[in-house]
Amino acid sequence: MQEFLKFLEGEIERLHEAHTYKVEVPLESAQDHRVKVAGREVVMLTSNNYLGLANHPRVRQAAVKAIERWGAGMGSVRFICGTQVLHKQLEETISRFYETDDTILFTSCWNANEACFATLTGPEDAIVSDELNHASIIDGIRLAKARRYIYRHNDMADMEAKLSHARSEGARFILAITDGVFSMEGELAPLPEIIAACERHRTLLVVDDSHATGLLGKRGRGTAEELGVWGKVPVHTGTLGKAMGSAMGGYITGPKPVVDTLRQRSRPYLFSNSLAPAVVGAALEAFRMVMEDPSRTLAVQANARYFRERMAAAGFQVPQGMHPIVPVIVGDTALALAMGKDLLMRGVYVSGFGYPVVPQGQARLRAQISAAHTREDLNRAVDAFVAVARQHGVVR
Ligand SMILES: Cc1ncc(COP(=O)(O)O)c(C=O)c1O
Repeated sequence: MQEFLKFLEGEIERLHEAHTYKVEVPLESAQDHRVKVAGREVVMLTSNNYLGLANHPRVRQAAVKAIERWGAGMGSVRFICGTQVLHKQLEETISRFYETDDTILFTSCWNANEACFATLTGPEDAIVSDELNHASIIDGIRLAKARRYIYRHNDMADMEAKLSHARSEGARFILAITDGVFSMEGELAPLPEIIAACERHRTLLVVDDSHATGLLGKRGRGTAEELGVWGKVPVHTGTLGKAMGSAMGGYITGPKPVVDTLRQRSRPYLFSNSLAPAVVGAALEAFRMVMEDPSRTLAVQANARYFRERMAAAGFQVPQGMHPIVPVIVGDTALALAMGKDLLMRGVYVSGFGYPVVPQGQARLRAQISAAHTREDLNRAVDAFVAVARQHGVVR
């Protein structure tokens, strides 16, 4: 036992040496465009609270009302006695949002992705996946018995080759999966080309739109709407933990046989507790708000444009794009982490990421913009970036 603990201590020590030991900063306030850290108010630039609904009075109220009406929890899985009318209302609302047959809730999008591939495919089938897909997709695919074909990131020629290869190796059915938005870059998947390739190869496409639902497209319907292919993605997985209220939870939405099969057979759904009423109530209100009024969706897009333009004008290396994830590349991992600390001292909370989370030499600070940010917040953030970057010799 002592030997085991010593080994683990050594592993942790190596994380410290590599500057990859993660430190959690306790917030002393609710999640919002500004938060309190160590007694000071700072601009929050590192949350997935894209629409600013995490602490919105309507969403808070909905969560409180759900507890009052439906209680704290279910004490059970959905099919035993864990389904309330409230769960059905959220599933129906998400189906209306996506214009799909049906929706199934999970306790997270991680769980949804864990459920998806192992349940829908068997050893005779194939799964074709982008190499940079989210960790939950990678782990979800590992649980499946289907053959795996991994294509180079957003490389359509390689995806096409992998689809052909899967067919030539005798796959019965093929399922393809991509993130709608890749979260280290805020980069969109080329869905029009992916959809065309899937149609050519009779492949069921699944898109994880966790970083797009509510914030991309004119009505916030996500990456497909943004790229002009709304209605052409058969299956979406998504989270309730980012734009859509920021509480927690996930879902899969699509054709009835897909959702029915998941409800009958997926292990994370069958063997794990159902979502708590407060969480369901908050998410339901968030979907209603986005569906009745696109102004928050348009506000986060406008804020992202403003921040991107100001950062580029200040001399920062900001990759092209429109997503509210704005990576500011500084190169060295230790530099990114040191700049993150100095930015927090100057009242801006933004996370630094280095190797191995991103490729060697591309360490970055990843800013995430919200509809809740005011121009004053964004100006304060740009000014702090400029001051800290000058201090470290990143810009002149
Ligand atoms: C693309 C993607 N899928 C899934 C998840 C997991 O979502 P959840 O927090 O609901 O488990 C995330 C969260 O970071 C994500 O970015």
